[in-house]
Amino acid sequence: MSHSLPRPRRSALFVPATNEKAIAKLPQLACDAVIFDLEDAVLPEHKAAARERLARFFAERPEGGREYVVRINSLASPWGADDLAAASGWATDGVVLPKVETARDLLEANDVLDEADAPDTLKLWAMIETPRALLNLPAISELGRDPSARLSCLIAGLNDLAKDTGVKITPDRRYLQPWLLQMVLCARAGGVDMLDSVSNDFRDLDAFALECGEAAAMGFSGKSIIHPAQIGPANAAFSPSDEALAEARAVVDAFALPENTASGVISLGGKMVERLHLAEAERLLARATQLEGLRH
Ligand code: COA
Ligand code: MG
Repeated sequence: MSHSLPRPRRSALFVPATNEKAIAKLPQLACDAVIFDLEDAVLPEHKAAARERLARFFAERPEGGREYVVRINSLASPWGADDLAAASGWATDGVVLPKVETARDLLEANDVLDEADAPDTLKLWAMIETPRALLNLPAISELGRDPSARLSCLIAGLNDLAKDTGVKITPDRRYLQPWLLQMVLCARAGGVDMLDSVSNDFRDLDAFALECGEAAAMGFSGKSIIHPAQIGPANAAFSPSDEALAEARAVVDAFALPENTASGVISLGGKMVERLHLAEAERLLARATQLEGLRH
């Protein structure tokens, strides 16, 4: 049952492709996904060496385990085309496209991957971090409905979005909430995951845990992160809580009672519970089983 669930993406850790110490640390870390960065975390004079480093990483990549994806440079930059050509031949689970603005940007990258005979398992992830991306979000996320378009995940990029719009990132993110919720809505409509933005302050883990909790409540699938200390709080916030699991078991048990097997809707603890809640409860329990079996 659990293997039919999509892979968890509670925590997706950015790792600069030039940071040897960080790469060496990965086997010890419990993040659900690793995003090797060739873009903003790598200086222009190190772009080629960073690409070489990832070629070596993927040549020795162990089977299975967590997802490893690569954020390439924009195809409009001097390095993007070489990055994508290289990544198409790696044992990577995905290519993260930065500064996607239109559905066409994704389709162009997809064409390159198809022409390079990249396997269907190589997915595209898109950074949503420009004003145009927000305006074109319905068309971008709709590509998630077309398996041949490879789109699997969107990532909010609030640092760039704040820079380009002038919207201030406050601790409670109040001015950004309409856009964050719009991202979740579009991603769900397209059937793809939606990851929340990175939080720059990796020392204040209380604030980070709060932000993760809010992101989970907004419907995000997980959080993109920059530091190992953020893995624990992100994994916790995007895992079913003990309370939610107890409630889910109660719903499953209630519908299993002989008097309820033919009911569409029942009363449980003073609340109306419908079969849609049963389906949700079963999904939650399956997710918990899946997470227990995770080996990073
Ligand atoms: N992935 C894996 N390991 C990491 C890491 C990461 N993203 N960030 C830090 N570490 C490791 C460090 O190498 C260090 O390892 P050690 O215990 O073997 O010495 C340990 O975690 C503690 O790191 P710390 O000293 O607290 O942080 P730092 O000053 O080394 O690094 C940053 C701080 C922000 C520079 C670093 O976390 C980083 O580069 N993050 C990713 C940035 C990025 O990719 N940005 C682009 C996308 S937004
Ligand atoms: Mg960015």
